[in-house]
Amino acid sequence: MVTRSSRLRGFYQHNPEERLRIVAGWAGLTEEEVAILRQGLSVAQGDKMIENVVAAYALPLGVATNFLINDRDYLIPMVIEEPSVVAGAGYAARLARAGGGFWTGSTEPEMIGQIQVLGLDDLQAARQRLLDGRQRLLALANEQDPVIVRLGGGARDLDVRILDDTPAGPMLILHLIYDCRDAMGANVVNTACEALAPQVEAISGGRVRLRILSNLADRRLARARTVIPVVALARPEDGFSGAEVAQGMVEAWAFAAADPYRAATHNKGIMNGIDAVVMATGNDWRAVEAGAHAYAARSGRYTSLTQWGRDVEGNLAGSIELPLAVGIVGGATRAHPTAKLVLKILGVQTARELSEVMAAVGLAQNLAAIRALAAEGIQRGHMRLHARHLGQGEKERG
Ligand code: MEV
Repeated sequence: MVTRSSRLRGFYQHNPEERLRIVAGWAGLTEEEVAILRQGLSVAQGDKMIENVVAAYALPLGVATNFLINDRDYLIPMVIEEPSVVAGAGYAARLARAGGGFWTGSTEPEMIGQIQVLGLDDLQAARQRLLDGRQRLLALANEQDPVIVRLGGGARDLDVRILDDTPAGPMLILHLIYDCRDAMGANVVNTACEALAPQVEAISGGRVRLRILSNLADRRLARARTVIPVVALARPEDGFSGAEVAQGMVEAWAFAAADPYRAATHNKGIMNGIDAVVMATGNDWRAVEAGAHAYAARSGRYTSLTQWGRDVEGNLAGSIELPLAVGIVGGATRAHPTAKLVLKILGVQTARELSEVMAAVGLAQNLAAIRALAAEGIQRGHMRLHARHLGQGEKERG
């Protein structure tokens, strides 16, 4: 395998066509693929994706450089309308590179399908009967999609929850845990839930209403962490030491950890990066957004999706964990010509690998945001001190 560095010095100084050539060379794109990237989605292709199409809508596709994730270099295609996001990601990835880059991990790609059962007198007894029927229900779920089962995915487990007190009275919720492998999984999970419904009614003696995937995909988590050497954070040009910047960043994070008003903005910044990759790869960013924010509120209080602190040597250590229900097969990931090539540029082999790359980008984006915000805070602080000194001088002179 050829070792390629994503540390493309001066990439930003080229024009878009030159950048496209560099990326094409880096990712081994053919001339036809380059032409497809230049053209983007046609109206005819869009017409096959959604209803009542009248035109195709374009957004800029930028590429963030410098990402080193689990010792491997990645160029990160990002689709976003907001300036500074792509540059921020690349800048943060360069800082992270100084400490060895990002380290990532993920759970199995398990989604949750929900089946709502009403009209039960004895919910505990119905729950037990459903759990006793586990093998039969899992087998029935697996009959619905033999392909995903052959690929190593399929129904894994059942969970049965009781909601004692809802506006519609008590109800029982069956969770179907389903390993989606490289698919996002909404279709396969919804199909399995629909197929199970008659059996669930027969076993429980109740009446099934909803059969639908949950976007709180808390069994499909991606994680990333990084350590930035404190010296890399120094801003000598502004007179700030690395320790001052690191401390400012930890204080900025602490604000988000403790306050939902700040956490919403902090997490929005994280999602600037993640959504841009979700969009570029043709994945469902509403699903990812819903999962991320619901996960951020899982303790009952909405908080930061990242953690930042100082290690024993004073370096800045950061981590992130969030649900990332994304796929590399099916849906727009393959139907959208640009998304397909974005996956080739990323070079990810599995949906899990894609989710881990996204987690690293989210952590990088958060790093860029809080560094900028904290450094500005430091700057203002210094200005204030400076002003005070000046004031002092005036007084002394006066
Ligand atoms: C702007 O799109 C995102 C930020 O507000 C995020 C943050 O405040 O952490 C800069």
